[in-house]
Amino acid sequence: MKKPGNVKKMERKGNKFEETLPVKSLVVVFSYHHKNTEKIAHVIAKVLDAPVKTPQQVNPEELLEYGLIGFGSGIYSAQHHESLLDLAGNLPQANGRKAFIFSTFGAPFALFKGERLTEFVHNNHGALREKLQSRGYSVIDEFACAGFNTNSFLTYFGGLNKGRPGADDFRHAEEFAGDIKLLAGKEK
Ligand SMILES: Cc1cc2nc3c(=O)[nH]c(=O)nc-3n(C[C@H](O)[C@H](O)[C@H](O)COP(=O)(O)O)c2cc1C
Repeated sequence: MKKPGNVKKMERKGNKFEETLPVKSLVVVFSYHHKNTEKIAHVIAKVLDAPVKTPQQVNPEELLEYGLIGFGSGIYSAQHHESLLDLAGNLPQANGRKAFIFSTFGAPFALFKGERLTEFVHNNHGALREKLQSRGYSVIDEFACAGFNTNSFLTYFGGLNKGRPGADDFRHAEEFAGDIKLLAGKEK
């Protein structure tokens, strides 16, 4: 996961008219707990001008039509939802097509900052990343933010990460999407 404000952003500032080609894009999301990840998916999809579908709404073969695909869900038991993992495991060989990964997590965001956050997200994304890479996808970037969590006993305490994702998360997701759009278009 890269934080906003990295090199790619500077490239964009440096030359707004850099030549990039539009890439046919799709966002696949599974989101059920509070629809946290679905909200992030729609922000990203708007920037990419991409449809948003659930794993149940796509068949693996049709994904070959897309040059860039985002795969995201909430984090459940330290990984993405099994429906997304199942889809990833059944994808045809992608021969270097581009993908990105996103998620929302319910662990208390105040405990995860800097390197610790990067490592936490890297681990949460590990199962999906491995499956995508084993199917020949090039994972060009990853995004994660906190999401409201009332799983199990947490509901009695009003939940964790109330109000997340919030305005800052949506702005970061928008910046992330702008960066991957640029990256995917340039590296065709
Ligand atoms: C059954 C279940 C298991 C969860 N496991 C984790 C977990 O292992 N780590 C974590 O950070 N959050 C965990 N969460 C919290 C969710 O990742 C978080 O609330 C997320 O934003 C939910 O996304 P959604 O609303 O898109 O489904 C869990 C939530 C549920 C319901």
